Amino acid sequence: MDRKSLQAACLVVAVLLIAPTLTSGQELKPIQLLEPQMDTGKPLMQVLNSRGSSRAFGSEKLPMQMLSNMLWAGFGVNRPDSGKRTAPSAMNWQEIDIYVATADGLYVYDAKAHALKPVLAKDIRALTGGQPFVKDAPVNLVYVADFSKMGDAEEDVKVFCSAANTGFISQNVYLYCASEGLATVVRGLIDRPALEKAMGLRPDQKVTLAQSVGYPKK
Ligand SMILES: Cc1cc2nc3c(=O)[nH]c(=O)nc-3n(C[C@H](O)[C@H](O)[C@H](O)COP(=O)(O)O)c2cc1C
Repeated sequence: MDRKSLQAACLVVAVLLIAPTLTSGQELKPIQLLEPQMDTGKPLMQVLNSRGSSRAFGSEKLPMQMLSNMLWAGFGVNRPDSGKRTAPSAMNWQEIDIYVATADGLYVYDAKAHALKPVLAKDIRALTGGQPFVKDAPVNLVYVADFSKMGDAEEDVKVFCSAANTGFISQNVYLYCASEGLATVVRGLIDRPALEKAMGLRPDQKVTLAQSVGYPKK
């Protein structure tokens, strides 16, 4: 084999080795979510009356309109003029990112664009919690605090505020689920170092809580 043929052969082998990684990384496309529907949902008092945690999920995927509505309800932009959101945050830091783990892969919710940005073309649902039902839920939200958005606050302030801020978002998701008859549970039982590593987070990004969502198991 001459030098040119050898180089060509090496190139083919390299492409074959790299291709699966590239392909799986590229398979996940950005998703433009649907406009949130403002004219649906039960009255607030009925929603509060049925809010609760459920831990048994059917495997059916959530329709895109439901996912779109739920993410907007959770932490969407409800006042475009100021960019403010459906949940409050200390100092308006808006430091919580909602990651969305599905069978297709991992996305992060871009509230301003009301879109899902691809993160990983891999099903990491089972890593989002230690309980057996977690892998069955079609959607596992992972709340991630981006400490770099919290100025020069002390570490304990960042930990406290990001936990509190996550609670408001999680309750919004609880209320949306109660309104639509979906099952959900917020979860703190998480192997955080393992999950943060699997998600490829930076050291100043911290998993606060996760929340499973799906149809109730029949
Ligand atoms: C901060 C926090 C962490 C929680 N962690 C878990 C968890 O890891 N696993 C779980 O099954 N439920 C978890 N829950 C759900 C609680 O167990 C549940 O809210 C509580 O039992 C009351 O039930 P209810 O939500 O139906 O009112 C958590 C709730 C909160 C607020």
